[in-house]
Amino acid sequence: MTPASRPSPPSGAFSSRRLISVDDLSIDEITFLLNLATYYAGFLQRSDPAPGRLAGRTQINLFFEDSTRTNLSFELAGKKLGADVINVPVSASSIHKGESLVDTAQTLAAMGADVMIVRAKEEGLHQKLSEILNCVVMNGGAGAFEHPTQALLDAAAILSEFETIEGLTIAICGDIKHSRVAGSDTTLFQKLGAKVRFVGPADLMPDNNQFADVERYGSLADGIANADVVMGLRMQFERMGDGGADAAQGYYEKFGLSHDTIKLAKPDAKIMHPGPMNRGVEIDGALADDPDRSLILRQVFYGVAMRMACLDAFVTRGE
Ligand code: NCD
Repeated sequence: MTPASRPSPPSGAFSSRRLISVDDLSIDEITFLLNLATYYAGFLQRSDPAPGRLAGRTQINLFFEDSTRTNLSFELAGKKLGADVINVPVSASSIHKGESLVDTAQTLAAMGADVMIVRAKEEGLHQKLSEILNCVVMNGGAGAFEHPTQALLDAAAILSEFETIEGLTIAICGDIKHSRVAGSDTTLFQKLGAKVRFVGPADLMPDNNQFADVERYGSLADGIANADVVMGLRMQFERMGDGGADAAQGYYEKFGLSHDTIKLAKPDAKIMHPGPMNRGVEIDGALADDPDRSLILRQVFYGVAMRMACLDAFVTRGE
């Protein structure tokens, strides 16, 4: 494709300087980010160099919890846009000498960060950092609470398959209680007009006062009936405390996603999963790998495109 025939990025200003929660985003901002992600997806698909929107900027990835997809796709996204990207080796940092997370973040910001991507489990930390640091702060995952860029990339992956999210029925299955992805996805999909359902055993459902308007199902057959999209989740044992491993007992027999059980959803329903997957625990490998059914690798692809969009929008368009 010649440069002249390349699509233009969406126009418009973007005034936000932090991405902490899906709740912070207006519909206009969400639409802008989805359009910008589509624009960047084009560069990735054509293996074309993207514009160096972040050239000369410093991006610091500060992940206090494990991550493969989020950390590496933020790294790749920043590099594709020309940023100097630093991944903080947390396990070898001064956190182990007793330094607080806030002090570590402040120290890194003082090195001249333009944007810091933070993953941590402490409630309220991202908010606090966004108030005290003189750089853009993005939430790369906050405990069991929020994962806004995952919600945005999931919406982009759905839109690569469906014309609109409005009116879709999206069933989220499994360990919803401990899943920041389920929380952020539900908020975003509802904002975009989807009907979200929760499906799983009662002890893996969020408290009744959270997402009170979402229908809950204790039966997979009822919960995914007529669903357009079925999303599996990992059992997040690390957040369950003692006895958590019991949650997996008998789960697959009742709620496991496979070619057999997905027949209960719409005939052309798509499967999603934020990863990491545990094959045979919440999802059968053959279904996860079926390109006619599974959007799982497309979610990963849009992870890079959407994080390019977020970096561009929050770092360079909010000035
Ligand atoms: C998830 C996360 O870390 O919240 N993964 C991701 O970011 N793609 C889901 C999980 O840990 O199960």
